[in-house]
Amino acid sequence: MCGIIGIASNKPVSINIINSLKKLEYRGYDSAGLATLNNNKIDEKKCTGRVEELEKILFKSPSEGNLGIGHVRWATHGVPNEINAHPHSTEIVSVVHNGIIENSDELKKKLEIKGLRFKSQTDTEVITLLITEALKKYDPLESVFSTLKQLKGSFALGIIFKDNKNIIIGARRGSPLAVGYAQDEKYLGSDSYALKSMTNKISYLDDGDLCVLTKDNVEFYDEKKKKINKKIYNLSDDKNTSEKGDYKNFMSKEIFEQPITAKNCINEYIDSLKKDINIYNFPIQPNNINKIVLVGCGTAYHSCLVAKYWFEELTNIDVDIDIASEFRYRKLKFNSQNLYIFVSQSGETADTAAALDLCKKNKVKTCSIINSVESTIARNSDWVLPIHAGPEIGVASTKAFLGQMIVLYILCLKLAKSRQDIEDKDYQLFLERLKLIPDAIKKTLKIESSIQSMAKEFIDAKGSMFLGRGYSFPIALEGALKLKELSYLHAEGYPAGEMKHGPLALIEEGLPVIVIAPKDKYYEKTLSNMQEVIARGGKILFISDYKKELINENVRFGVTVPFLDNLLSPILLTIPIQLLAYHVALLKGCDIDKPRNLAKSVTVE
Ligand code: M6R
Repeated sequence: MCGIIGIASNKPVSINIINSLKKLEYRGYDSAGLATLNNNKIDEKKCTGRVEELEKILFKSPSEGNLGIGHVRWATHGVPNEINAHPHSTEIVSVVHNGIIENSDELKKKLEIKGLRFKSQTDTEVITLLITEALKKYDPLESVFSTLKQLKGSFALGIIFKDNKNIIIGARRGSPLAVGYAQDEKYLGSDSYALKSMTNKISYLDDGDLCVLTKDNVEFYDEKKKKINKKIYNLSDDKNTSEKGDYKNFMSKEIFEQPITAKNCINEYIDSLKKDINIYNFPIQPNNINKIVLVGCGTAYHSCLVAKYWFEELTNIDVDIDIASEFRYRKLKFNSQNLYIFVSQSGETADTAAALDLCKKNKVKTCSIINSVESTIARNSDWVLPIHAGPEIGVASTKAFLGQMIVLYILCLKLAKSRQDIEDKDYQLFLERLKLIPDAIKKTLKIESSIQSMAKEFIDAKGSMFLGRGYSFPIALEGALKLKELSYLHAEGYPAGEMKHGPLALIEEGLPVIVIAPKDKYYEKTLSNMQEVIARGGKILFISDYKKELINENVRFGVTVPFLDNLLSPILLTIPIQLLAYHVALLKGCDIDKPRNLAKSVTVE
């Protein structure tokens, strides 16, 4: 969460800081700020709200200076207001910070006893004051090292100093941080995406690392203060996918580019000539895998849940699944023959990264299914299976979810085939059907106008429920999550068979209930559960891949997606629930790409 940018240059930096902050807004957007060094002074400007507001402030009162830091905030300590916005500065030092300082209360008390006063409610100000104190005795580098020693938590920092006009210090512990290189200019960024418009040459800090940037040079240190070298990566150019083009917002673009997402992903993994899947070098021989453990957060967790059904159906491997924030604190029995799979769009989600670290500490084999291949999780895994979806900018995950499901399905098929859990002819059939997915998604997207009408049913709703069984249960969870995060309407996702164990009490006259019922082995059972809802006055919106005349006075709307194979139904049934959340949010006038209180990359625990 939160975004950091730092630029050391031979020309004024404020415009590039603003442009980078706009790119970083997906990490946090409740306040923004920057500090530059100008005329031997730290010039700090901050505002609540979006970077656009900061830009307006700069328009009236420009920030000069060839060196500066900027920040977009997703509030953790203290409400989102101007005082709590970053940077946090004293006369001699200015700090931007991602993450959380867990012992900030304790440190604050110590500093207050010394007579120091705090302006904000943030944990960050503790860092500013500790460095300010340390600068009385040490140079900037030593001051930062001595401050870092006192901090507990997970964070990334960018720091500038009034009396050392040429340097920016960056430090990473837990939260990601990257450095970018250009002629006469060096950059610090909480991710490479923010730096991409300025350079494609990037290095990544590892946990405990610190860097000192000047316009000409970057020095890296490890936590023992030893100078270290870093690899410089050349980033790929994703220009087409990082621009919104003619779409109203990134989310609609990302929903509608899913046929391409699916195609790219399938083309990367399926060798049509050899009629096989290009996945080799399993960290554990497929026949020796004892158990698969799938871990993720939010939407990524839902793709894990879909995969659990696939692995159980197609392989004889036992499967466990967990939410990363739970996994990381459970007392687990690690087994070297288990394959631990981490699913994440950003590859920077703090809980997922920590769950992966726990596995590494326990010396078990890890695989990540990732969109951002330059991310921390990808770099720390034994084995990486990218989803090739291109940058996903909308905070609500859509095309990445689709890509995650496709890669998990492909992995499942390959494992099933390698272990001979499925016959070769079935393997070939499943591959052929999978190749039909991009076109089937294209056809599914044509239901948009029906979904637009369906969305109107939510305008006055107090809440809603999404029901499904089997493969459709995770899609019900995903539908509820999408609707909540985009339209701020309460939504619950449930296995349809579970309703009578409690949630049925929520059904009242006119409550919209989305029933996801493909024609699979659960179909009839789901219809019975639906009748229980109808009997209590629920307003049914029916989504299926089976064209049966179901619309009557009890079923308000029905949409049908193409049928390919029961196994693939969750992929196609995802499209209507994405479109539904999108159109409800649009009707309610919500900010589609940046829903309130959220951020794209959740780098705090
Ligand atoms: O980057 P990740 O896939 O690890 O992110 C995990 C969740 O934070 C993310 O999927 C979140 O739930 C989305 N906003 C849902 O649309």
